[in-house]
Parts: sequence; structure tokens; C-alpha cells
Amino acid sequence: MNQVSTVVADPRSVDQAIASRFSARAFLPRPVERRTLEDILAVASRAPSGTNTQPWRVYVLQGASRDTLVDKVCAAHDAIRANPQLAAEYREEYDYYPEKWVSPYIDRRRENGWGLYGLLGITKGDKDRMHAQHQRNYRFFDAPVGLMFTLDRIMGRGSLVDYGMFLQSIMVAARARGLHTCPQAAWNGFARIILPHIGAGADEMLVCGMALGWADESAPVNGFHTPREPVERFARWLE
Ligand SMILES: Cc1cc2nc3c(=O)[nH]c(=O)nc-3n(C[C@H](O)[C@H](O)[C@H](O)COP(=O)(O)O)c2cc1C
Repeated sequence: MNQVSTVVADPRSVDQAIASRFSARAFLPRPVERRTLEDILAVASRAPSGTNTQPWRVYVLQGASRDTLVDKVCAAHDAIRANPQLAAEYREEYDYYPEKWVSPYIDRRRENGWGLYGLLGITKGDKDRMHAQHQRNYRFFDAPVGLMFTLDRIMGRGSLVDYGMFLQSIMVAARARGLHTCPQAAWNGFARIILPHIGAGADEMLVCGMALGWADESAPVNGFHTPREPVERFARWLE
């Protein structure tokens, strides 16, 4: 491909692929062809990275490898619920979220959480249903494909910037093929189960997981549409 002279035939389709990406939280059991997954990963690998370090490493889980990881992590998640002290054994390997939440982030976070639970009819005191809904993360929301992303521990924080571009490229490339995704930091606390399960080396850190598959259009949860701030609120124009 001549990158300089390539013309994006229909620029709107690029916008559509980006804008129609959302975090799908209910998938059909329909499998995804390996060839499609390879194409998605190959195109996503065109994501830029500082000095072309390409710091990503991807584990594609399907079939038994996916199902047994689901069993292990759901069991751990249930065990923590039964004995909250166990939570101390599961640590995230990097701070995805801030230690202290402040406005406006906490407000958006709350709006997001309660918006989702509200749509599902889950109220604040309904701990059982909250636990069950949260646990759907650890079933990849029933998606047949689970992706796990790791980063060499030796790398700097900039590699997480690179990683974000790679992850978004996967999600947009998936959209171009009719597929949907949900990026998942929910797995991060269970790195001590996940890393040995996928055969990652001691030098690898878990960045996040991702569910990928055919979204269930009839599932109410997939009707959850998140708002965005308008451009004038986050962009400052300097002259
Ligand atoms: C790195 C990353 C991790 C995320 N982790 C989770 C997760 O564990 N579970 C979940 O349901 N959503 C997760 N999300 C989805 C966000 O909640 C979602 O992107 C946000 O609310 C905006 O909604 P949208 O993706 O539908 O546009 C994650 C998103 C990102 C970018």
C-alpha cells in the first residue's frame, strides 16, 4: 500500500466505524473466524508507537482456554464476595483509576455506573444483582473471543499511550467487520490468575482485557449510549 497516495474512499465510513463503537455488554454465541481476528490484529498493528516500539502483546482466548479462565476468575470473584478480606490478595498492577476521585470525573463515573444499572433495573441496595452484573465482565459478556493484553514491565508510561491507540484500532477494525467489543479493566485485579493461565512471562504486566464478538442487538444493555462533552468544552483554541 502506498500510504501517501491512498485516498480514503468514503471518509464517512471511518467516522461511522469510530462513532458506532461502544462498549457492548451482551454478545451472541456466534463464533468469529480466526482469519477475521488475524486481519483485525494485523491492521491494528499499524497503530503508531514511540520510536516504533510496538509494545503490545496479545493473547487470544477462545474455546477451552476462554472457558476455564472464566471459571477461575468467576470463582475468585465469588470467593471475595463471601470473604472480602481476600480482596487484598488481588492487586491491579498499575493505577488505571486515580487514588482519589474528584469532580468532574467522579460525576461522570457515577452517571455512567448508575445509568447502566438503572437501565437494567438494578437499584442501589440490590447487591446480588450488582455482583451478578459485574461478574458478566468475567464471562466476557458471553463473547466467544476474549483478548488479554500485556506489556513488558520494563517499558515506560508512554507505552500505555501507544497501547491505547492499538486498542482503539482493534475496536475500530472490529466495527469495520460488523463486530463489537468491550475493553475491560475489570480483569486487571485478577492478573495473578490470568498471567499464568495465558502463559505470560514474569516480565509481562496485564494492561487490560477485551470482549470481542457479535453484539446481541436484542439485549437492553446494548442500548446504553454514553454521552460526551461537546468540543467547545474540552478544546481551547489559541491564536
Ligand atoms: C481501558 C478501558 C477499560 C474499561 N473497562 C471496562 C470494564 O472492565 N467493564 C465495562 O463494562 N466497561 C469497561 N470500559 C468501558 C467504559 O465504561 C466505556 O468506554 C465508557 O463508559 C464510554 O462508553 P462507550 O465505550 O460505550 O462509548 C472500559 C473502557 C476502557 C477504555
